[in-house]
Amino acid sequence: MISNNSPIGFFDSGIGGTSVWKEVIKLLPNENTIYLSDSENAPYGEKSADEIILLSRKNTDFLLKENCKLIIVACNTATTNAITFLRDAYAIPFIGIEPAIKPASLITKTNKIGVLATQGTLNSALFEKTSLPIRNTIQIQETNGKGLVTLIENGQLNSEETRALLTVYLAPMLANNIDSLVLGCTHYPYLIPQIREIIGPDVQIIDSGEAVAKQTKAILLKHKILNSDQKHTANHKLYINKDKKALEKLIEDSPVKELKIIEQSF
Ligand code: SIN
Repeated sequence: MISNNSPIGFFDSGIGGTSVWKEVIKLLPNENTIYLSDSENAPYGEKSADEIILLSRKNTDFLLKENCKLIIVACNTATTNAITFLRDAYAIPFIGIEPAIKPASLITKTNKIGVLATQGTLNSALFEKTSLPIRNTIQIQETNGKGLVTLIENGQLNSEETRALLTVYLAPMLANNIDSLVLGCTHYPYLIPQIREIIGPDVQIIDSGEAVAKQTKAILLKHKILNSDQKHTANHKLYINKDKKALEKLIEDSPVKELKIIEQSF
């Protein structure tokens, strides 16, 4: 039985979606959460839409068994390929993460924006639909960040290899005079310091984490399932189907008290 005390569920192809999880628990500190890191199947970005739907369905079934009241698809690739299917197939609310091209289009002065995302996101019908009206006035330079998710999953945020790949992906965007860079994958916010070093101070970096947290609050309020019990200490369970070391490192700055990381297959 779903109640205000039921957890918010999250799933991602791996540990990167914790960038969204952190924003949500910052804004909604009373909420219990369950995060599913499907690291064994990362990256989703190179899989077919059918495979991504199948994995998203499996993750959702797991979270529903844990009595989640709302699910955040904390993965751009799963959102752009599977969220329409999930919303049709299940009764609970889903929140997805789409590349923030619209906000970027509102702030660009050069009318050139860069999007760094996976091939799965860039090829999706949802990305095509969202970007089409913007392309009339703004040039969108898309780049597949192939290899970055795997490096982040392996804990290599600051390695030579990661920096070299980022330089290869970002240099052509800079040469083309973009002034806004959309991070279209929930893993990439963990590379912001390295990205900033390459692109310099003038290009705006746009990621969706904070906007998703605000939208989550609005949807919980709308469905009257927000946990507003101020005395309650929220508890958080993070499941991962691979070695948990890289995940532990990524969330070591998290201020939550009741946190369990569970390594198991699912
Ligand atoms: C991936 O698994 O390839 C990337 C996840 C994302 O798109 O956020």
